[in-house]
Amino acid sequence: MAEEDEESTPLLSELYKPPALLPIARLKDQLLYAIETHPVTIIVGETGSGKTTQIPQFLYHSGWTNDGSQIAVTQPRRIACTSVSARVASELETPLGQEVGYSIRFEDVTSSKTRIKFVTDGLLLREMLVDPLLKRYSVVMVDEAHERSLSSDVLLSLLKKVLRKRSDLRVVVSSATLDAERFLDFFAPEEGEKIHGLDRDEYGCIVSIEGRAHPVDIFYLSEPTNDYIERAVDTIIDIHTKEADGDILCFLTGREEIDDCIDMIADRIVDLNPNFKNLQPLPLYAGLPSDQQMYVFEKAAENTRKVIIATNIAEASVTIENIVYVIDVGYVKLRAYDPILGIERLNITPVSKASATQRAGRAGRTRAGKCYRLYTEEGFEGLEDATFPEIQRSNLAPVLLQLMNLGIQNLIRFDYLSNPPSKLIVRALDLLFSLGAIDDYGRLTKPLGTRMAELPLEPMLAKALLNAPSFGCLSEMLTIAAMMTLQGTAFVSHSDTTKLLERSRRRFAVKEGDHITLYNVYQSFVSVGKKDAQWCRDNCLNHKAMIKAVSVRKQLENYLERMGIQESALQGGDVKRVGGMEMGEKVQRCLTTGYFAQAARMKSDGSFQTVGGETTLWAHPSSMFFHRKADWVIYHEILETKGKVYIRDLTTIEMDWLTEYAPEYYKVKKR
Ligand code: CDP
Ligand code: MG
Repeated sequence: MAEEDEESTPLLSELYKPPALLPIARLKDQLLYAIETHPVTIIVGETGSGKTTQIPQFLYHSGWTNDGSQIAVTQPRRIACTSVSARVASELETPLGQEVGYSIRFEDVTSSKTRIKFVTDGLLLREMLVDPLLKRYSVVMVDEAHERSLSSDVLLSLLKKVLRKRSDLRVVVSSATLDAERFLDFFAPEEGEKIHGLDRDEYGCIVSIEGRAHPVDIFYLSEPTNDYIERAVDTIIDIHTKEADGDILCFLTGREEIDDCIDMIADRIVDLNPNFKNLQPLPLYAGLPSDQQMYVFEKAAENTRKVIIATNIAEASVTIENIVYVIDVGYVKLRAYDPILGIERLNITPVSKASATQRAGRAGRTRAGKCYRLYTEEGFEGLEDATFPEIQRSNLAPVLLQLMNLGIQNLIRFDYLSNPPSKLIVRALDLLFSLGAIDDYGRLTKPLGTRMAELPLEPMLAKALLNAPSFGCLSEMLTIAAMMTLQGTAFVSHSDTTKLLERSRRRFAVKEGDHITLYNVYQSFVSVGKKDAQWCRDNCLNHKAMIKAVSVRKQLENYLERMGIQESALQGGDVKRVGGMEMGEKVQRCLTTGYFAQAARMKSDGSFQTVGGETTLWAHPSSMFFHRKADWVIYHEILETKGKVYIRDLTTIEMDWLTEYAPEYYKVKKR
């Protein structure tokens, strides 16, 4: 076992800097003392100083898990959980999933031996449903708190409450750039108040890790650019042909941009003088399959310069060694929720100054570096200081549902780190009410509301799944729900096989739309493709993703079973009730009961219009309605690329169903 592990990571280990040399090593005793003596410790230190990988090990070695408790370390992103836990496991020389493990939605790599557990902040919130005081943990470390992700903000609020009930719990808040005083202030008792005998000054402590960063020269454009991808490619080629050795890290906003950029680099490489080193472009974004993520962390091959094209995931949550050049286009994709339209989008937004500084810092880890900002100096001066918290720009329905299930009654007065606008709360409650999750008094309904909160799916999908038995399509909806969690990764395309991909999609397509098409994909996979990787390749299907769907389906089935909903038992009885209806229609209707708030109608030009007619949407190229005509549809997801708003996973419905299944919602809308 151990041998195998070593074999699979020879390149990685070459890169490892002995932990004893990390800046945090000198602070070990001070840190442990701070944590021992204060309920809350805030740790601020440059990316790469060792916060994420070392602090949990310090705690582990100094006995914080001796009584069988665990240490939880939360991350806003799944990829950080998987990559960092692998790293810590290898430092402790144990296989991943033993002493060190990780747990993310639908993927639990822990065991009874696990003492250090990396989890997404959202998942730890979920754990509180069954373990409200988080009793199994002696320390909870909320990492990357500066990102102000929705779940980590809410988690901090809940931890504040838990700390008042548990004098033995320790909370560590860590981050690269953080307004530490503000966080400490949030946790501390009021003036004159004491908690567990501790007053304001004794309750928390700030520890700063002095970075040992090298200087980074910053370059700006003299004129703004209107095509930052092209400009980034030019800059990459310039660096490669003119500058000394050292890898390049380029920040773009999303997967499509990254793919485009890599294609453009590939085109340019062909023309390069063969005397230059090789240039190897590598993508890094949150949905990247884990086997491909590893290339990013591996040392470049001989005579090769790596250029990593990443989203802001590389800003703080993962460490890539040997970066000397950073290219920052100055934008990031951020969630933005429009409470009037009820639409959540990922908008391309200028970064904050804190982000830009953080990005530049990535260049100075190994030696002096250079950062090319693809905007003007005035542009930089005009940026916001820090990123706007996610809780102020998100659809709050999922998180409010969770809070209610934790017994929190007054959602307006809840102790938020930053208050969400009341518009957002009202809108979320509106939606939850229309979905039947809460009653007229704003209380969670039983069993529907509590079950929706318990399912690890967003409320609309949870509702559709829980409604499936009454339509006699539970088995189909379980499959569809599992496929939805793949978020578009079921099909894979290589740039040279787009035609093949189109043909494969068509092979599975049905007139009802993408959901049932994905159902067909799943069915074919389990009957022929599961053991046949070649079949998957021939059909442009991602074998790993499909295996994942099978596992997710099983897990969802278990959730339902625990709720007393059984696939086989319910099916027979219900078929009668909706007798005569085709399976397709059952699924279409069932989906409408969950997704009525995301309905749109196709216009003659092929674009879609939302119910109120406020927004123009386009079918995503992955949808069968990219080419085909439809009338009314519901959609699973909205995403914005290059200024165009796309909807993904569409199914046709009839307009009457909207008022049939959501009379309240559409009454409100018409006003
Ligand atoms: O959390 P923080 O940014 O302070 O640092 P860290 O993630 O604990 O990383 C500490 C050091 O471990 C980095 O400087 C890298 O040398 C190394 N590391 C790595 O090589 N590969 C990883 N996946 C994680 C960390
Ligand atoms: Mg970290």
